[in-house]
Amino acid sequence: MKIVRLIDLQKKKEAREPIVMLTCYDATFARLIDMAGVDILLVGDSLGMVIQGASNTLSVSMDDMVYHTRAVARGCQRAHLVADMPFMTYQTDLKVALENAANLLRAGAHSVKVEGGRSVASTVRAMTEAGIPVMGHVGLTPQSVHALSGHRIQGRTEEASARILEDSLALQEAGVYAIVLECVPETLAQEISTRLVIPTIGIGAGRFTDGQVLVSYDLLGLNPEFKPRFLKTYLNGASLVMAAVEKYVTEVRHGEFPAQEHVSVI
Ligand code: KIV
Repeated sequence: MKIVRLIDLQKKKEAREPIVMLTCYDATFARLIDMAGVDILLVGDSLGMVIQGASNTLSVSMDDMVYHTRAVARGCQRAHLVADMPFMTYQTDLKVALENAANLLRAGAHSVKVEGGRSVASTVRAMTEAGIPVMGHVGLTPQSVHALSGHRIQGRTEEASARILEDSLALQEAGVYAIVLECVPETLAQEISTRLVIPTIGIGAGRFTDGQVLVSYDLLGLNPEFKPRFLKTYLNGASLVMAAVEKYVTEVRHGEFPAQEHVSVI
């Protein structure tokens, strides 16, 4: 089995072969998503919302990320595995940031992802110099949800676009191997993708990034109320799960399950 290495991701950009990334939070889904051929599994701090039921990512802790990264690593055999560094685990102190990143690698991640541009560039440089591969994340950075006045499209004005481009260039200079562009205009994402040598991975950033990422639970339609324009759902997951569980409920209540074939043979 051929493992996806950073050099393979870079080659994909150079060959204009789209990079496919998906979030993942446990070993069972990791096995399935990995076998389906995804290039990068992201243990996203979106787990605060889709696993923990919070309204944003701010309450996710290092312990949460280490726990889920360890689980995903057990199911992931081939894909590159990147883990999010949670809110305020890399901004306050460089030594703490390095130790936190190292703990995610010890849990099985191959790299870490941090949000922000020029403000985190020196931390990114220290991590990459320490041998920790880093993925950047600009545009809509959910850990800044309050500063950004909500989960909104970023880079709408010329000034804001220029800032996101500068942030992306600074991250590349600091040594990131790829950058997530979240919820930015397609034209800006295209310009950044052309200007950068490293791959860009878009979510809500249009068609011209070097790769795409989605939250797996959204792709599977597990939360049908969440319907942003950028999202395509590939399964009516919520209806299918509900139908299966309702059938189980009915069968147990009617004495139809367990049937004779489900009884252990002694
Ligand atoms: O946490 C996450 O799932 C993410 C993706 C949306 C890129 O950062």
